[in-house]
Amino acid sequence: MRYAATIIGTGCAFPENRVTNDEIVDRLEKDNISTNDRWIRDRTGIRERRFSNLENPDEHNSSLGVAAARKALDMADRTPGDIDQIIYATCTPDTLIPSTACWLQHKIDAPQAWAMDINAACSGFVYGLATADKFIQSGQTRTALVVGAEVLNPFINWQDRGSCILFGDGAGAAVVERTDPHASARILSSHLLSDGNLWELFYIPAGGSSMEVTPGRFSQNLHKMRMTGKEIFKVAVRTLAEFANRALESNGFTIDDIDWFIPHQANYRIIEAVAKRLNCPMKKVVVNVDRYGNTSAATIPTALDEAVRDGRIQKGQLILLDSFGAGLTYGAILMRW
Ligand code: UT7
Repeated sequence: MRYAATIIGTGCAFPENRVTNDEIVDRLEKDNISTNDRWIRDRTGIRERRFSNLENPDEHNSSLGVAAARKALDMADRTPGDIDQIIYATCTPDTLIPSTACWLQHKIDAPQAWAMDINAACSGFVYGLATADKFIQSGQTRTALVVGAEVLNPFINWQDRGSCILFGDGAGAAVVERTDPHASARILSSHLLSDGNLWELFYIPAGGSSMEVTPGRFSQNLHKMRMTGKEIFKVAVRTLAEFANRALESNGFTIDDIDWFIPHQANYRIIEAVAKRLNCPMKKVVVNVDRYGNTSAATIPTALDEAVRDGRIQKGQLILLDSFGAGLTYGAILMRW
């Protein structure tokens, strides 16, 4: 291997509107659907989330991505002109055409870059970072910008109290750069897999090319998320533990060697159950689901950025990223900071 990749800057951004559980309760009550703050906290660990105002272009998906990217570039001491690859992980693009990566490129002016989206739902950032790592290893990319961002609120099914409580909007970004293959700070390995057979556990029926959104389908909420929560919960706990172990074993480490575990933030109980399976004390787990809910591709990069900026993550530490998402998709990345 001629090159390795390392993260040299991180950033995150969220919309202004903070939506508490009580506000969700009020919204559902209008449709005679009952829920309560206690249930949401006990079953998910979520206290609040952020929702983009879709009328405000500054809170569109790509704009949140731009805000996160600017912070990551600042930390990295790089400019948009330094970027030669933009990977934008999202399942809620600004538009189907062009890609949200191209919208971001347009907004930050990164003329040397080629840009593409990745849709791996909640695993998107891990898939994106793994892709950047491989392009950097090949010598083709020197500096990549990897963004994980979502504006999920337009796809929430407010008729389904089991899922509408979970999601929020936000963006996280990382500047990833070429380094020496023997450098201490580098991505050590990535492990990806998907199982398309489990598509039905989490999907949006209409809005793609296989099913247009017609007025009839719109009224049936076919353009909104459908989720089989209980099944996903079980698969998530099993596969998160499995992929964490794959990453550890393939590098000759055990969970005790890890300084920070950053799993996908879908539900606090999933995170706790995985940590228990792995024998990982919760004090080593980075959590932000309580304040932002499940922001899909944005959960891992935003949690990473928080832990970098508040000083929890220190040079030389071992970090494990671990994800699962619709598809279903799975992935883990081990890196030395
Ligand atoms: O990024 C990947 C995306 N998705 C996920 O990761 C989701 C994974 N799954 C989950 O997080 C959990 O399964 C949920 C939070 C979605 C649901 O929690 P649960 O503990 O699996 O609850 P449940 O679906 O088994 O429901 C238990 C009870 C049911 O009532 P009965 O049948 O026992 O009377 C539900 O109708 O809770 C009821 N319920 C609610 N009650 C109050 C479901 N949603 C609500 C609600 N408020 N919002």
